[in-house]
Amino acid sequence: MDINKTQAGHFYAVGVGPGDPDLLTLRAARLIKDADVILAPQSKKSKTSLALQAIAPLVGDQEVVISQYPMTRDNSKTRERWGLLADDVSDRCRRGQSVVQVTLGDPLIFATSSYLMEALAEQMPTEKLHVEPGISAFQMTASCFNDALTLQEDRLLLMSATDLLAVENALEQCETLVLFKAAGDLPGLLTLLERHNLLHRAKLVSAGGQGEHEVRVADLSRWQRLDLGYMTTMIIHIGKRGWHEDVAS
Ligand SMILES: C[S@@+](CC[C@H](N)C(=O)[O-])C[C@H]1O[C@@H](n2cnc3c(N)ncnc32)[C@H](O)[C@@H]1O
Repeated sequence: MDINKTQAGHFYAVGVGPGDPDLLTLRAARLIKDADVILAPQSKKSKTSLALQAIAPLVGDQEVVISQYPMTRDNSKTRERWGLLADDVSDRCRRGQSVVQVTLGDPLIFATSSYLMEALAEQMPTEKLHVEPGISAFQMTASCFNDALTLQEDRLLLMSATDLLAVENALEQCETLVLFKAAGDLPGLLTLLERHNLLHRAKLVSAGGQGEHEVRVADLSRWQRLDLGYMTTMIIHIGKRGWHEDVAS
């Protein structure tokens, strides 16, 4: 089996990176170009599918299906929605079409692909379901500042910033904390970091790789605060034990 070729009757959850078409893997590009159907998830709140924008140069004859999904914490509604989409995808695959679902970043990190994959696993054989990794937003964010995420025995913790109490607890559990969805309650988050004297150790990227919309802040203690959108990732370098101690001594 050639893993680089999109196969008839197969489904692929493909990570397309954080939004810059240059950050697609070669394999993702090949699979997308060869697909019969491109499935692009779009939140009901947004006007465009960022994942689809990221692959615009690769879209030609493929059928493009925009799948709108609700941003809800109601698990039964979420399951129902993704179950219906899985019915459609498995039907297309039975008819011999290859279906590629494009997802921002990596399909296994805070991604709607996981819901669809779970529903599809009940309807299709495992060997016809594939996940292709993408560069995740946290990797892109770290690379914007040339900063190591981990050294030696450091612990890296990835989480959503939606629950500030959970964020506060996490500060004790790792040397590097990555916060997805960091702009949800940015004033609250900044106050929390200030209280822990960590503002100067925190950085963020918003709309990374998205041209003039991109915002990079290397030191949040020196930042003129402004409103940021949903696509915001923060990294807090709480303490790199080992490396800095060695350098200081
Ligand atoms: C639903 S999650 C998707 C994560 C994605 N699967 C990944 O691996 O990066 C959305 C969150 O990803 C992060 N994100 C995605 N694209 C981004 C970008 N271009 N710049 C900064 N953060 C981004 C933000 O934290 C945003 O709130």
